Amino acid sequence: MSTDDSPDADRYVLFGHPVAQSKSPFIHGLFARQLAQAMTYRLVDVGPELFTVTARRFFIDGGAGANVTVPHKTAAVELADELSPEAERAGAVNTLVVRDDGTLLGANTDGIGLLRDLELNLGLSLAGRRVLVLGAGGATRGILEPLLRARPASIHVANRTPTRALELAAAFADLGTIDGGGYADLGNLPPFDLILNATAASLAGEVPPVPVRQFTRDTVAYDLAYARGDTPFTQWARSRGMTQTHKGFGMLVEQAAAAFALWRGVRPDTAPVLEALRSL
Ligand code: ATR
Repeated sequence: MSTDDSPDADRYVLFGHPVAQSKSPFIHGLFARQLAQAMTYRLVDVGPELFTVTARRFFIDGGAGANVTVPHKTAAVELADELSPEAERAGAVNTLVVRDDGTLLGANTDGIGLLRDLELNLGLSLAGRRVLVLGAGGATRGILEPLLRARPASIHVANRTPTRALELAAAFADLGTIDGGGYADLGNLPPFDLILNATAASLAGEVPPVPVRQFTRDTVAYDLAYARGDTPFTQWARSRGMTQTHKGFGMLVEQAAAAFALWRGVRPDTAPVLEALRSL
């Protein structure tokens, strides 16, 4: 969707592959209307081989900013002249911002988006909580720094390939108490307060094998993915008696709002947009 087709409207895009299903044009369209911003936001479906050249061309042609999604978040690091601390840590960029001097800032708003959804929208304080993160891929890498800065008692990363979890834990160990391992290693740990699903298992209709002793009915289950109804993970969590299950719609809207604020210098009110997205 575009919000303003006047020729001088600032142009923003989302680069990804595939992107047709993206809700970002809807979200940014509502933000732009809410704050009367003269801008357009369009989808650009581009494969890995043409991503860099397409993105460079977009900015040479006067593009004002971009979001970047799967599978280009790592490649986008190379486009930026400078990285935000979060993007640097994550080794991934989801937002590109053209600054006043023409240079390109690479930022990553995924983690701050998740944190704002957890703490502000859902009212879950992470301080002192035991957090289990499932998965050790790009999604996890993008959220660990903001999660650790929220001062949980500990974060445990569990992954199908245990070495990846151990490597991630080591890479973030200077920011707080974090360790990692395989799913089989979870058995000896006390129950967690919050389980975040950052795996791609849902794509195969699967759920990571979390043992029953690692959660109680009060454990909060949050899937970074979202779907119209239940995701395999939220369905699994509810069927195991967890009463608080959440999907990643709030994270999606909050990461978009953080990107919007970087581009436009004004922060949208996310509540009505989240409500509109949920009722789509
Ligand atoms: P992303 O950038 O979306 O995180 P990724 O880097 O490919 O993508 O990582 C996908 C994550 O989902 C990984 O942690 C992967 O586990 P492995 O590291 O062992 O590959 C995890 N994953 C994918 N399919 C899974 C499944 N069916 N069960 C459990 N974990 C799965």
